This record gives sequence, C-alpha cells and structure tokens, in this order.
Amino acid sequence: MPVITNIDDLKRIYRRRVPKMFYDYAESGSWSEQTFRENTSDFDRIYLKQRVAIDMTGRNLATKMIGQDVAMPVGLAPVGLTGMQHADGEIKAARAAEKFGVPFTLSTMSICSIEDVAENTEKPFWFQVYTLKDDDFMQRLFDRARDAKCSAAMITVDLQMLGQRHKDLKNGLSAPPKLTPASVANMMTKVHWGLGMLGTKRRSFGNIVGHAKGVTDPSSLSAWTSEAFDQALDWDRIRVFRKMWDGPLIIKGIMDPRDALEALNVGADAIIVSNHGGRQLDGALSAIRALPAIMDAVGDKIEVHLDSGIRSGQDVLKALAMGAKGTYIGRAFVYGLGAMGEAGVSKTLEVICKELDTTMGLCGRRDVHDLDRDILMVPKGFSGEWE
Ligand SMILES: Cc1cc2nc3c(=O)[nH]c(=O)nc-3n(C[C@H](O)[C@H](O)[C@H](O)COP(=O)(O)O)c2cc1C
Repeated sequence: MPVITNIDDLKRIYRRRVPKMFYDYAESGSWSEQTFRENTSDFDRIYLKQRVAIDMTGRNLATKMIGQDVAMPVGLAPVGLTGMQHADGEIKAARAAEKFGVPFTLSTMSICSIEDVAENTEKPFWFQVYTLKDDDFMQRLFDRARDAKCSAAMITVDLQMLGQRHKDLKNGLSAPPKLTPASVANMMTKVHWGLGMLGTKRRSFGNIVGHAKGVTDPSSLSAWTSEAFDQALDWDRIRVFRKMWDGPLIIKGIMDPRDALEALNVGADAIIVSNHGGRQLDGALSAIRALPAIMDAVGDKIEVHLDSGIRSGQDVLKALAMGAKGTYIGRAFVYGLGAMGEAGVSKTLEVICKELDTTMGLCGRRDVHDLDRDILMVPKGFSGEWE
C-alpha cells in the first residue's frame, strides 16, 4: 500500500482507478460549483488557537450521535451509486464503518440493496430516504429498513428536484455505465475497477429495480426517477413520513433557521445542516457558514449535525467547536473507497480520526465533549450580515 497521510493522497489514487464518469459524478457541484468550492474553502477561514503546557493525555473522541455510541462523531453520509465507485461499494464502506465504530448511512439510490448490506454486516446501519410521491413505495422502504434492523432513518429534504451538474450530462452518467466509444476506452484503463465489476452482480439500483412499480430493469429506471421525486413536498407530508417510521429520525438538508424550527416541530431527533455537498442550490452559503444561525435558533432543542466540505479532522473539529454534535463525510470516504475499497474507507477514517485527535490536543482539549468556540478564531462577519 502506498504511504497515505491525508485525504488528498486517497483522492489522487481514486482519480487514477475509477472511470471518469464516476469520478466526475462525485467530484462536482451544481452549475458554477461556487457552493461546492466554498464548502471546503470556508473551513480554511476559521483558525485554531494553539495552547501549550496543558495536560493532553487521556484524550477521548467517543461520544453519541442520536443516542447511539460512536467512536468519533463522524458518520458516512448517504452517497448514491457508491457501488459504482467500487464493486459492492456500499457493503465495503459499511464494513469499514462498523469496524471503526461510526455510522454508515445507506442511500435510497444505492447499488447494493438494504437487504444486501444487512446480510453482509453485523451492526445496524442507518437508511436514507428521498421524499417520493408514492406512499406505498415510501412505506415499503421504511418497512424494509425496519426489517433490516436499521437503527435510524434519514430523510433528505433538499432534493425535490435535481440541481444540474454539467459533467453528468456530458458524460451520460448511468448505472450500469452506458457503453459508448469514449466510456469503453476510459474503462479499459481501469483494470482493478473493471475486474471488480465483472465479479459482482450488483450493478444497478438495488433498492429500486424490482421494488418500484414498473421498474423491472435499469432501462425503465430513468423514467421512474424523473417522475418519482415529489416537487409538492411540504412539512405536512414530512409528518406523514414521520408516522411511517417510529424509530430515530434525522432530517438532512437544512440551511435556514426557519426550516430547522420546522424540523424540530415534526419531531425529528436530529437535523443535518447540509447543502448536499454543493450539489443542489448553487449560490447557497457553505454549510459551515450557515451553522451559527441554526445553532442560535434550535441548538439546545435538537441535535444539530453538519456535512458538506469536510476533508480533514481539523474540519470536523471546527464544526464541533461551532456547536455541531455530529458530522458526516461524503466525498472523503468515496475517495478512499475508489482508491482501495474497504481498506481505503478504513484509511479515510483513520486519517480523519488522527487529525481530529492530535489537533484537539494541540488546542489544549482532551475530550470531544469539551469543544467550544473558545478554541477558534472565527473572522468577524463570517456568517454574514445580509440585507
Ligand atoms: C456522489 C455523491 C452522491 C450523493 N448521493 C446522495 C444521496 O443519494 N442521498 C443524499 O441524501 N445525499 C447524497 N449526497 C450528499 C451527501 O450525503 C453529503 O451531503 C455530501 O456528500 C457532503 O459533502 P462532502 O461530499 O463535501 O462531504 C451525495 C453526495 C455525493 C458526493
């Protein structure tokens, strides 16, 4: 294994090993990609206070997210098509997460199905649902998640319709990939990836094909997808979903304090401050800039988590010190997975854990429960003053 010291190392290997279509799918944001870029660059605007001569022994990163034990407050975010980044990708990532002791969240738009992941893992994972028009299908998704012993459901509320990513249209993104001269020429250079894919039957959307009405094969799927998402979604409808699932519930995709209050009223156990990794509303604030106003509105009434832009343990530390009780990584684990499968996801988690642990110590803190704004230098006007 090459010497991996940071997430960028994994990203470089990932880029070499995975077909361009799937690299581009992960490594892009919507339209101009402003929000995608600022999600990461805004973390760099926050500085850390170095403290010295403080006992740094006996540090602790273990805590709880929605009442469940985690080795560090960093979960794997739901990522569609993970099984196209590496054969059986969802199973590989879920195994790495369970070994590390952090939550894995399976996307509705995964390649491996809920049942597949449950059969191939030991510990409960979390399941993410998109908000679809078809009540029967939604109820079945929640029922399948319950039968698979998922210990939380995550409802993503920021994708009533799809933000446009130019590269996906140009590449003709699909699962399994369409065979064009350009895609075949590119895939032929990705030997590891290709052998993995030949060795698995899991090459289409496992939660949908054969489960949604009228979707019996991948070719009928695209018509289903454009029809299925519910543009009429409102909070009353989210209340209906709350009734379908009586376990722990996380609402993902909150960027405005008013929406945070709505999520609280629906009876969610946690919210995720997230702009979908810059893949939906381009021009929205970065998640880390949106966090303070949401903390002010609901911070002591509901657990607030954050994703979008986290590429290091230092980023995790900053989000926690700004008040988040949990964080998630999307692309950072995809890089690891595409680079070297399960071992790569484990490596992602190790890198982030070590960075978080060491940086916390160098800030003079020994416990994730004791992080606060006092360790940070946040530029004046960071969250913005808007007309
Ligand atoms: C390739 C890709 C696919 C994604 N698919 C989903 C999905 O199926 N469901 C969902 O709720 N979020 C999805 N997301 C958003 C992630 O859950 C998460 O919000 C985002 O990746 C966080 O930003 P980061 O990648 O900068 O860490 C996806 C993100 C990426 C990069």
